[in-house]
Formats: sequence, C-alpha cells, structure tokens
Amino acid sequence: MRTIDVFDTTLRDGEQSAGVNLNTIEKVEVARQLERLGVDIIEAGFPAASKGDFEAVKLIGDTVKDSSVTGLARANEKDIDAVWEALRGTAEPRIHVFLATSPIHMTYKLKMTPEEVVESAVRAVQYAKKFFPKVQWSAEDACRSDEAFLVQIITKVIEAGANVINLPDTVGYITPKEYGNLFKYVKEQVPNIDRVKLSAHCHDDLGMATANSLAAIEGGADQIEGTINGIGERAGNASLEEIAVALHIREDFYQASTRLKLHEIKKTSTLVSKLTGMKVPANKAVVGDNAFAHESGIHQDGVLKEKTTYEIITPELIGVNQNRLVLGKHSGRHAFKNKALELGFELTDEKLKEAFVVFKDLADKKKEIFDEDIFSILTNKQTELSDVAAYELESLQVQYGMNNIPTATIEMKMPDGELVHVASTGSGSVEAIYNTIEKILPNPSKLSDYKIHSVGGGRDALAEVYVRITYGGTEGSGRGTAQDVLEASARAYINAVNRISMIESRTKAKVSL
Ligand code: KIV
Ligand code: ZN
Repeated sequence: MRTIDVFDTTLRDGEQSAGVNLNTIEKVEVARQLERLGVDIIEAGFPAASKGDFEAVKLIGDTVKDSSVTGLARANEKDIDAVWEALRGTAEPRIHVFLATSPIHMTYKLKMTPEEVVESAVRAVQYAKKFFPKVQWSAEDACRSDEAFLVQIITKVIEAGANVINLPDTVGYITPKEYGNLFKYVKEQVPNIDRVKLSAHCHDDLGMATANSLAAIEGGADQIEGTINGIGERAGNASLEEIAVALHIREDFYQASTRLKLHEIKKTSTLVSKLTGMKVPANKAVVGDNAFAHESGIHQDGVLKEKTTYEIITPELIGVNQNRLVLGKHSGRHAFKNKALELGFELTDEKLKEAFVVFKDLADKKKEIFDEDIFSILTNKQTELSDVAAYELESLQVQYGMNNIPTATIEMKMPDGELVHVASTGSGSVEAIYNTIEKILPNPSKLSDYKIHSVGGGRDALAEVYVRITYGGTEGSGRGTAQDVLEASARAYINAVNRISMIESRTKAKVSL
C-alpha cells in the first residue's frame, strides 16, 4: 500500500479562477480548513505577484502548523527571494519553482532556446536550494514537451538539488494512458530519479483531470496536486476530493491512499464555495448536492432494500450530516461556542460575542437552526474585514407595490463615521437598493453578476446573495446573508465595495502567470 502526498493549490491555481479574489483573512480561513482536512502541502500563493499575495503566504506560513506551506516562483532570483521572505520563519520552508519546457512555450512565451531553459532552470534550483530544504521544480506544459528533453532537464535539475519534480498538464491536453506512460518513462529514463518524488498536476479542459491524476499514480506519481471543488484557471484543476475518495473507494485497485481526513471534505468544499462564490454544481462527483440523492423509483426502492445497490459512497464518509437540528433559541453561549469548535471555528472572544448576537437574533425568527445556518453565521463573522475602515449598513427600508415605483431608503455609516441617509427608485426592489447605494458611494459602480440561494431548506431559511461588481474601475465580489432577501442583497453589495477597497489598498500591480 502506497501513501500519496496531497499538494493543495486552491489558494494559488484555484484563486486564478476567473472572478475569484479572496482577501487575506479568507485565505487564512481556507488554509486552516485545509490543515484540518489533512493536506500535506498547501500552496498558499505567488508572493512575487502582489503585496496582497505576499502577505497572505506569510500569514498562512505563520499560522498553519500541521501542513507544509509553499509559495510559487518563476525561475528568477527576485521571485525566489519573495518566497523566502514570506516563508523563512516556517518549520520546513518549501518553494515551488517553475519554467516551461514545451517547444510552444519556449519559442513564443519565453523566447529562449532549450539550452537556455536548462541553464535557467538549473540556476534557479541551485539558488533556491541555498535557502530552502525542500525545492519542487515544475516543467510547465510538460505534457506537450519533447520527452527526451524532459529527461535531460529533469536529470540536471535533480543534480542541482530539486526534491520534487512536477509534470503539469498545464493546458489539460493529455489522456490518462499517455499521462501514466509519461510517469513510467521518466522513472525509467532519468538516472537519478530515485532521489526525488514525482508529482502530477492536471487541468480539466477535456474533463480528464481526475482520471489523469489517477493514471499518474498508477504510473508511479508520489504526489498529486489539485484544488477543492476543482476550481482553477479555465475549466479548473483536478478535484482533490474526487481523487482522494476514488483512491479510498477503489483501494483494491489502486493500492494507494492519502492522509486526508475524508470526513472533513464536505465542510472544506462548502467553505471554499462560499468564500469564492463559485457554486458547486448539484451533480458534481462527491460534493454536489445531488451526489447522494436517489430520484428514480427503481433506485429508491433498491436503496431502501439495501443501500449498496446504488450507493458506493456514504454521505457520512465525506462528513455530510443530513440536516441535523443543532441549536435553538434557548441554547446558551457555551453550547454555541462548542458548536463553533465542532465546525472548526476558533473565534476570538470578540468575534464569538458578535456571532452569538447574530445567532440569537436568528433563533428568535427561525424555528429550527441547522449546522449550515451556524456555518453561514460563522464564515461571515470570521472573515469580516475588521482591519479596514468600511461602509456599514445601518438601516434599510424598501417600499414595493405592484402599481408603485419601488423605492429604497438607506442609512449608511461612512468609513469616517458620518451617517448618510439617501433614497432612490428603481424598476425593482433590488435595483432601487443598488441605485441608492450607488448614490452614496464616492466612486461609480456596476453590477455584473447576482446570485441568490437559500441556506438549507424551509420557508424561513437564510438568504445568501453573491454579487460581482466593478467599483472605481476594479472588479470584485461580495456576499451577504440575512433572513430577508433584500437585506442580504444590500449587504452583499456593500461587502463587495469594502472588499474591493481593501484589496485596492493592498495590491499593487498584480503579475499574472
Ligand atoms: O498548470 C501549471 O503548469 C501550473 C504551474 C505553475 C505548475 O500551475
Ligand atoms: Zn496549474
């Protein structure tokens, strides 16, 4: 039985998903949940890309203790120095250096000859090795590279001190059979390969990322890379939860497992989905809402007679608690604190106090409180932007009638503490609210996406709104939760403005890969 290392890149490749922009507090929250999930290595970001990325990698490195934390660098000293500055205080500083090796990338992107690429990769690994005990080197676009060239450069990079060699399928092009064979070939042909671990990194452009990762394991990969919910550039990365559960369910075939605590999967998936605003499709393998739903009569009949007729994965395996009633309006602060801990939230006393007030308020209005309600309250409280002066919704009133013009009146606390009172109309209630907020804000804003869903079931369920806006020329997203859909809509918009203002103040000229 082999144990496969899990390298999570939700906060780096995943955060490169179109429209995703997590703030530092949210990144730390995700990293702590990845640690609870039992991920071996967390790629926390790309420190040279921006001040915000640097700060997040540093804070995650300082916070996370049970997973190893790494940062990405191009093959140059400046990028490597940035990762070192961010991670020098961690127990086992680790770096991930990459350079493209395919003819397409070398010719058109790098404008370098293969010899120059070898020299540059070797120099970068030697330089990184002066600081880092663990150096991972990636041959970007490995799957469209010449195999003999890969053998040559990998041999040299191992001589230079690399500990892990990653063969990414950067554009999601390869097939499972080819990818498995590539690992076998590299293992056979590279003379010093026994000094390193081999890693697989797949993208899902042709829907083959999970199958390719599993094929890599069959071919000899010791580490798999991916993201939670498969988020990432274009069609995304390989879904770590799918690979880990496939290894578990088909252990008989793969003879390999990971160290992931599978019962933490659902919670991790929900957190990532909430914070990124990327909803998990209902039919997504392992974590989709319908993954355990049996709809047809024949299937239902079979499952009632014997679960295993149609169910190969149990909900409990990934930590799905079917709508467990948890707390009520008589629950005290102690019970609430215990529930928060059980859900993985270690709140400061101040945050706990605030969250408890929100919970009590909700418990007065909502008959039954479930795990997912508490989770929603806690994610909002934990990741609130407490470190920047922000706009705060003080009150909201909306007048709507089928034959009237919808009108919203808002009282907003400005970042300098001033209270502003404004009213405006719109063709619908939400538009009236957003027109009013726009009147209050100093910079122009534009809504590009609006999504609403209920947290759990029932008529009295919480409403959760996700918006994507451009504010003062910068794009960003925001979330708002409330029992009323209009209040949730207002909160989401204001949250987006606050997040953009914070990211703006911290990010200078983000470099994209
Ligand atoms: O897909 C890719 O090639 C990458 C590299 C930076 C490893 O993400
Ligand atoms: Zn990638």
